Amino acid sequence: MKIFLDTANVKELQEVADMGLLDGVTTNPSLIAKEKRPFRELVDDICRIVEGVVNLEVVAQDAAGMVGEGRELAKIAPNVVVKLPTTAEGLKACRMLGREGIKTNLTLCFSPAQALLVAKAGGTYVSPFLGRLDDIAHVGMELIRTIRTIYDNYDFETQILAASLRNPLHVVDAAVAGADVATLPFAVFQMLVKHPLTDIGLKRFLDDWQKAGVKL
Ligand code: E4P
Repeated sequence: MKIFLDTANVKELQEVADMGLLDGVTTNPSLIAKEKRPFRELVDDICRIVEGVVNLEVVAQDAAGMVGEGRELAKIAPNVVVKLPTTAEGLKACRMLGREGIKTNLTLCFSPAQALLVAKAGGTYVSPFLGRLDDIAHVGMELIRTIRTIYDNYDFETQILAASLRNPLHVVDAAVAGADVATLPFAVFQMLVKHPLTDIGLKRFLDDWQKAGVKL
């Protein structure tokens, strides 16, 4: 499973890129707005850090507007994927951009029916939002499992990008369910690394080593 960071913060991206674990990034209008920087300057910095996929989202609501914005975004760098909302207009734009060879990610997907249409429209990625479903007492992970079954039944090539992940268990369960990609907030990425038994075990090893006065 590929790991993307769900952030527009360059420090966070740099830290995970330096670990060699960054397969890509997802941004959205809220994450971009949080950085309070000129859009193009910020995106250029992001593209300098991220060697993998860079997801940038359109804000137009009609297909023609989305296609226009998508073309502009795709010109920024060869690894840009255009995020479109999973609406009728978004699906239309998905088909049109796909014909031009522009990769797409259909975001804000909340149902298997929507995911089926994304695959039929030729979306490169579909982004089911797990955490936001959990928030309204629906089992978000069930959506990933159902989409996986549908896509495997028909050999659809659209990749499942598990989004809106809130904790390490979401990430592990998405991997078990067969998501192709998980996009995580930086805080969740940090939680994945940590385990108290690792810290306790490491301290014990180093204490024993020091007490015995052994040298490498
Ligand atoms: C994905 O592309 C979205 O940016 C993201 O996962 C949304 O997550 P949230 O529900 O935590 O805002």
